[in-house]
Amino acid sequence: MESKRIAAERAVDFIKDGMIVGLGTGSTAYFAIRKIGQRVKEGLSIKAIATSKQSENLAKELGISLLPFAEIESIDITIDGADEVDAEWNLIKGGGGALLREKIVASASKQLIIIIDESKLAEQLGAFPLPVEIVPFGYEMTIKKLRKQGADPVLRTADNQTYLTDNGNYIVDCHFGKITRAEELHQALNLIPGVVDNGLFIGMATLVIVGYQDGTVKELLKM
Ligand code: 5RP
Repeated sequence: MESKRIAAERAVDFIKDGMIVGLGTGSTAYFAIRKIGQRVKEGLSIKAIATSKQSENLAKELGISLLPFAEIESIDITIDGADEVDAEWNLIKGGGGALLREKIVASASKQLIIIIDESKLAEQLGAFPLPVEIVPFGYEMTIKKLRKQGADPVLRTADNQTYLTDNGNYIVDCHFGKITRAEELHQALNLIPGVVDNGLFIGMATLVIVGYQDGTVKELLKM
C-alpha cells in the first residue's frame, strides 16, 4: 500500500492550478484523489472528471469540483492505476471494472500518468487476465467468440451475482497467456459484436510512475 501511495503522490505533483484533471479508479488512484483533495483544501484550483462512481463519490467527499464532459474540450492530465505495465508502457486495466470510463477519459487526456507499485511491472502483458466489457444481451454468444480468439474467458461475479459495471455491462476476464501482439488482439476483440471495449491500453500512457517497497519512486524508462 505504501508503494502505491508514494507513486500516487508523486504524480499529483504534476497537477497545476487551472487544470482539468481525470481521476482514475482503484486502490492506487484512491491515494492520488486523496492527495488532490488535500491540495484543493490548501488552495489548488482544479476541476475534475471521474472514471467511476466510486471515484466520483470520493471526489465529492473531498470537496473536489467535478465537471461534465459537455463543458470541456479536453482533459489536461489523468492519473490512473493499472493491473500490468510492460516496458513500452502498454497496459492492462480493468481489474477494478472501470476500463471503459477509464479509456474514454484517457483518450480525452493530453497526459496520462499511470501509477503502480512494482508488482505491476511485466516483461510481457498477459499474466493478469484481460478484462473485456460486454453488453448483457447475448453474452453467452459473445463469450463463445472470445474463446475463439484464444481466451479462457471467465464471467466476473461479485457476491455470487454477475458483476455489473457502472455502465450496466458485464466483465469477462480473459486468460490469454502471454500477449505477444497486443495491438492486433485489441482490435480483434473490439470487432466482436457485444464487446464494448477491452482493458488493453496501447500507446496511451505518457508517463509511468512506479513505487517500490524500499520507499523509492521512479519514472519507468520507455523501451
Ligand atoms: C480499474 C483499474 C485499476 O486502475 C487497476 O485495476 C489497478 O487497481 P489498483 O490500483 O487497485 O491495483 O483499471 O478499472
